[in-house]
Amino acid sequence: MKTVAILTGGGDCPGLNAVIRGVVRSAVGQHKWRVVGIEDGFDGLLHGLCYRELDLKSVRGILQLGGTLLGTSNHGNPLHYPVIENGETHWLDVSDQVVENFNRLGADALIAVGGDGTLKIAQHLYELGMNVVGIPKTIDNDLKATDVTFGYNTAVGVVTEALDRLHTTAESHHRVMVVEVMGRDAGWIALESGIAGGADVILLPEIPYNIERICQAIQKRRESGSRFSIIVAAEGARSRHGQQVVQTMAGDSRSGVERLGGVAQQVADEIRQCQDIQDMEVRTVVLGHLQRGGSPSPFDRILGSRFGVKAVDLIAAGDYGKMVSLRGRNVGSTTLAEAVDSLNLVDPCGELVNAAEKLGIMLGR
Ligand code: F6P
Repeated sequence: MKTVAILTGGGDCPGLNAVIRGVVRSAVGQHKWRVVGIEDGFDGLLHGLCYRELDLKSVRGILQLGGTLLGTSNHGNPLHYPVIENGETHWLDVSDQVVENFNRLGADALIAVGGDGTLKIAQHLYELGMNVVGIPKTIDNDLKATDVTFGYNTAVGVVTEALDRLHTTAESHHRVMVVEVMGRDAGWIALESGIAGGADVILLPEIPYNIERICQAIQKRRESGSRFSIIVAAEGARSRHGQQVVQTMAGDSRSGVERLGGVAQQVADEIRQCQDIQDMEVRTVVLGHLQRGGSPSPFDRILGSRFGVKAVDLIAAGDYGKMVSLRGRNVGSTTLAEAVDSLNLVDPCGELVNAAEKLGIMLGR
């Protein structure tokens, strides 16, 4: 009988509970193995050992729930861990401590469910000799080596519904609405929800924007009788003259990662300076963590469940150092090394961008 440990790391994402349930139903229900859930991502393997037994009963009724039963953290990266000494923060590699705690657990394998950061840690632990399998998670859909990550479909649905709602109020008040959505490096959420929600302008991290061209597009719409405009901006979008807009918050000294935020406000301020449309009212909406919360879509429930089952299949075959992935309609696997090699970004010359532009959507250039 094997013991399998599972943890969810990084930002939460709709479908995580479907993955946990898929793992437990397959590992416990089919193989009769033992599954333990590590709490709060890698934190649960760092500060002593925090875990709980996961039996079939413990995963009842969680398929439709957002968040993660196990808790998560995007602060405790064991490869870059903040240790405060004499008031100064030092960043240390404490992965040996993770391996030590994992060995104390007596587990045969670890399933790490997470995005780019979590999977890089997983790859490192695999290189240190741990039996690791990864499952790709992120609403940003920015992971290479899988056609799509679970959570993304739900996020696009949430943003599309928000855009539908914003359309009616923007039109009634003849306003320009700038909607900020998540997407640090990749603009998939902005692009696909923008197309689905009938946005007029979409701004992506991959295409630096030209504010004069955006103002011209808004003015042109007005001249043609549309007295409102909807702009969707990924949080990582930047002007061709500037940098990404950073909004570092107090707690971020723990992660060493800059938090983005404020691009909608920046774009709105820039539009207010445009001569021809100075009389138009410009408002901003930041959708933020609403995109990550709540119930997963049927697509994400199914994909998360399939990923969970596939991860258990890999462990049964002793096939470690792999990440489960979706290619076309099939769930398969790829090496973790390949998965974390580079990010899945929107191709500024690709078919999706091209289609958006042919639909009359302005991409900021
Ligand atoms: O990784 C997904 C993501 O949604 C990014 O787009 C965003 O920058 C980040 O999470 C925000 O995470 P948090 O505010 O929870 O730390």
